[in-house]
Amino acid sequence: MTEKSAPTALSRAEISADVLLELKDLHTHFHTDDGLVRAVNGVDLTLRRGRTLGVVGESGCGKTILSRTVMRIVPEPPASISGHIFWHRQNGEIVDLATYPVKARQLREVRGKEISMIFQEPMSSFSPIHTIGNQIAEALLVHERVSKKEAQERTIEMIGMVGISQPDKRFHAYPFELSGGMRQRAMIAMALVCRPTLLIADEPTTALDVTVEAAILKLIKSLQAQLGMTVMIITHDLGVIAKMADDVAVMYLGKVVEQGPVEAIFDAPQHPYTRALLKSMPRLSNTGSRLEAIRGNVADPYTVLPGCAFFPRCGEGEQDRCTAAMPPLVEVGDDHLVRCVMREGVAHGRGSG
Ligand SMILES: Nc1ncnc2c1ncn2[C@@H]1O[C@H](COP(=O)(O)OP(=O)(O)OP(=O)(O)O)[C@@H](O)[C@H]1O
Ligand SMILES: [Mg+2]
Repeated sequence: MTEKSAPTALSRAEISADVLLELKDLHTHFHTDDGLVRAVNGVDLTLRRGRTLGVVGESGCGKTILSRTVMRIVPEPPASISGHIFWHRQNGEIVDLATYPVKARQLREVRGKEISMIFQEPMSSFSPIHTIGNQIAEALLVHERVSKKEAQERTIEMIGMVGISQPDKRFHAYPFELSGGMRQRAMIAMALVCRPTLLIADEPTTALDVTVEAAILKLIKSLQAQLGMTVMIITHDLGVIAKMADDVAVMYLGKVVEQGPVEAIFDAPQHPYTRALLKSMPRLSNTGSRLEAIRGNVADPYTVLPGCAFFPRCGEGEQDRCTAAMPPLVEVGDDHLVRCVMREGVAHGRGSG
């Protein structure tokens, strides 16, 4: 068996220059009156420069909290964070965003400037009493030493870049004056106006109809190419992953259970959970076959299951092996890792161990 805790476990010297963000043994736990919620529970993940990582998994598996943890915008308390969020700057500097106090200046400098986020809810991201132009320009005024006039000019340029017509007029519009799709574009403009290195998009199209969804996804892709950004896109929709991602991380109950290049995940999924997700997804190529729902439900977040958390819903596992201990991530192909004891033989078969 090739055991490799993740690409993130490589030594400093081995880490290539294309690594942008490394999460190592990252935990975000919420201390609530009803118990401990392990929303993110030991995530190892690497993002490479200029690529798009898709994070997928059922509702409640920790996707949003993972991305908010990277930006350190989960409420602490009730949350507590442990592990590492290594942020690699172009100049070779590596900082661990997990080590700063939540109100640290260093985090404020990273947020919005180096890493920015498109949120699940566009309406809640804008204040209803200020124009969208002023709100977008504010990000520039906070992060860059620019005059008000320059901030306005750059904002109007950005509003135009995200495909909103008459950007100089729309600068003065209030959020309620825009349609849902336009608000989403305005939010993308706000996220991109400081030209971040990493854009995190949390379900950027969930609230939109399919034609607007296609347009927004295309827009993110073209802006990524123009601005040379790295993108982390979070979704429960594998169709969005297929359109957007170079690499995929599949999350289940706070852990990454499989990660790899998008082709490997779609063509040779190794984790029973990934396979179940794929079977539940409609495809144009198999319109004749029935879609299968994943049996059972995600366990409640307070319960700690011994071993693999997916075992009760799996149907492929063996009680003794699967419940003995949390399976390690094992390598089953190039950059393809899976957390399943039933796949250890597969890794063995490659002779890479
Ligand atoms: N403030 C909080 N206090 C306690 N538990 C929380 C808090 N915020 C989130 N959680 C819990 O953390 C877990 C992960 O939630 P998260 O929002 O990351 O899921 P998700 O994968 O983004 O789901 P969805 O696809 O529905 O957006 C859930 O069990 C959720 O109830
Ligand atoms: Mg979410």
